[in-house]
Amino acid sequence: MKFILEYVYMKILLIYSSWHGTVKNVAKDLRELIGVPVEMYDIEHSEVPSPDEYDCVIFGCSVHDRHIQESIRDYITGHCPVKKHIVAGLFCCSILGDEETQDVLERDIPAEVLKSFKIVELMGGIIYAKKLSFVDRRILKLISFDESRMKTLDILKVRKFARHIEEENLLMEKERDYILKHTGRVHYKAKKTDP
Ligand SMILES: Cc1cc2nc3c(=O)[nH]c(=O)nc-3n(C[C@H](O)[C@H](O)[C@H](O)COP(=O)(O)O)c2cc1C
Repeated sequence: MKFILEYVYMKILLIYSSWHGTVKNVAKDLRELIGVPVEMYDIEHSEVPSPDEYDCVIFGCSVHDRHIQESIRDYITGHCPVKKHIVAGLFCCSILGDEETQDVLERDIPAEVLKSFKIVELMGGIIYAKKLSFVDRRILKLISFDESRMKTLDILKVRKFARHIEEENLLMEKERDYILKHTGRVHYKAKKTDP
């Protein structure tokens, strides 16, 4: 039996909920941009693991009728603040602008939890006219949605969020190297292979 050394990356969990696909697409873009494997779960369609086994947990949600998804809100309320060594981040897609979105987050997420997120980005959003039901159109009317704002998603903010996560990963790597240098303890996982 041989042993090989397998480098242990920052373990990243990304949990999202998406009505018409904006958050899902942002989540996929982030997975592409972050140079480390990301485990991605759509909370509406799969069982989501606990954040405890991860180094970083990212939440992706959107605003509908002045609230974020209940599923994400309940998960966040039940599992956060996460343990101190875990980096937590949140991104939110919406169309009414940052000030409104910040108010929504402050209403839906307990203050101490919101404060515990190291990275928060309000990304803007997209309204897909073809996907709107009659009820959707009624809601948009009620929130005084202005049709000149069909697409406000800011790709630079997506890139910025990914860069922040990469920086956290670099910090973790530096910490590992420091521990290795000063204690001799190796933070690599030995993986058995067949002869
Ligand atoms: C029915 C409906 C209601 C919405 N309500 C809000 C709202 O209250 N505030 C807001 O900022 N954006 C609102 N939006 C905009 C969404 O947050 C935006 O379209 C976002 O990109 C949706 O992402 P998702 O498709 O991944 O869920 C609404 C969109 C729809 C279709």
